Amino acid sequence: MDKTLRDYAARSAPRYTSYPTAPHFTDVIDSASYADWLRCVPDEVSFSLYAHIPFCRSICHYCGCHTKATRQEAPVRAYARTLLQEIDLVTGRIGQGRPLKHLHWGGGTPSLLPHDKLKRIASKIYRYFDISPTIEHAIELDPRTVDLALADLLAEIGVNRVSLGIQDFSPKVQSAIGRIQSYNDVGLAVANLRAAGLERLNLDLMYGLPNQGEREVIDTIEYAVALKPDRIALFGYAHVPWMKKHQRLIDTDAMPDVIERFELSEMAIEKLLGHGYRRIGLDHFALPSDSLAIAAETGTLRRNFQGYTADPADVLVGVGVSSISKLPNGYAQNDPDIRRWRTAIESGSFPVVRSKRIDIDDRLRHDVIERLMCDFEADVDQICANYDTPPDALSDSSTALAAFEADGLVEISGSRLRVPDDRKAFVRVVASAFDKYLGSNATKHSVAV
Ligand SMILES: C[S@@+](CC[C@H](N)C(=O)[O-])C[C@H]1O[C@@H](n2cnc3c(N)ncnc32)[C@H](O)[C@@H]1O
Ligand code: SF4
Repeated sequence: MDKTLRDYAARSAPRYTSYPTAPHFTDVIDSASYADWLRCVPDEVSFSLYAHIPFCRSICHYCGCHTKATRQEAPVRAYARTLLQEIDLVTGRIGQGRPLKHLHWGGGTPSLLPHDKLKRIASKIYRYFDISPTIEHAIELDPRTVDLALADLLAEIGVNRVSLGIQDFSPKVQSAIGRIQSYNDVGLAVANLRAAGLERLNLDLMYGLPNQGEREVIDTIEYAVALKPDRIALFGYAHVPWMKKHQRLIDTDAMPDVIERFELSEMAIEKLLGHGYRRIGLDHFALPSDSLAIAAETGTLRRNFQGYTADPADVLVGVGVSSISKLPNGYAQNDPDIRRWRTAIESGSFPVVRSKRIDIDDRLRHDVIERLMCDFEADVDQICANYDTPPDALSDSSTALAAFEADGLVEISGSRLRVPDDRKAFVRVVASAFDKYLGSNATKHSVAV
């Protein structure tokens, strides 16, 4: 890798799970305004619901999620009670019977919810919404928590896709990241899920971890593929200790450097392709029959806070601390603090604290960035035309794009942009040409590759 590419790889760049990105949700929003945003969602619009569960048994050193450790059930029970109230508040505004296309439980570790609470929350959602026959009902699970009783319960409440956190199977990597789980633990979790009829399976892997070299990544991929998941996510470890203090427990000297990270990811990608998985966007892989692969094939892949998705819903409502909603008016984020979140809900207010109203310029840039992140290509004039906007609306990106073109990160033909196959790893950098907020506050992001 030459110096130019190495500098790009080491650049800090957003992951573009939204545009504008979360650090720029800086508008003040009160409960009444958010209630209006919800009330204004047109009748015909379909919904996606995200429920955030911010608890884990212990905190993995690398974790970038919003969660906390607990060994007790009481705080999780209390959280579930408030979540039920929050769902009442939301449906009080949008009305009951709205079409629901996608339901996602994320965290943290949603499987730490007591079984009776998981059931009550799911049945309330199923009662309040008009559930699409093709709904994707997904949940993120820690494989160390998946016994047969949980698997049966998940099948009973309608879950039809399960995502398991693996990261790396090597004991020396696991001890460096503070997450010990054997291959047998994971194999047993998968067997329990399949016995309950849960066939659609995603496994999360990571590269860029301490003590991780070629051998560890290859073995992890072979072990993961042997479990026959239909999707694999391969995330580059985002080391952001200025935001996540516990990441200071990671020994940075044992981490692969920028070049090694790039090589590890390229090697992992080659292995996954060799096993018949298709590359989906930057960091997902799916068997050709999987809905993500079909969405990628048909140009309908989307990007949201959970990463890549085939979710066709127009509106995303988040419930739970720190969750983000995307409504026609813009983005709004819930309070990350459980106590303040609960106080708001118990007084009948929406617990929103930050927002970003989106204008036409944001929508244009969002669409270009989303197409680049999903398809590695975008037709800028076409996207401007979709909004009846002159093609020069995004001309401020041309200086950065010309530099990226000269360095081989993007090919430009008229208004069409294309990221070459061997430069896909740099797509976040290319997308940043359209980010008008980048550099407008002190936010530091993780490295681009
Ligand atoms: C909510 S966790 C998955 C469910 C469960 N909590 C678990 O860990 O098994 C979501 C995933 O985010 C990824 N992740 C967490 N922290 C990350 C970081 N700092 N950089 C990149 N990916 C990260 C991991 O792959 C993890 O499995
Ligand atoms: S990776 Fe999963 S289990 Fe580990 S701390 Fe983060 S959310 Fe919890």
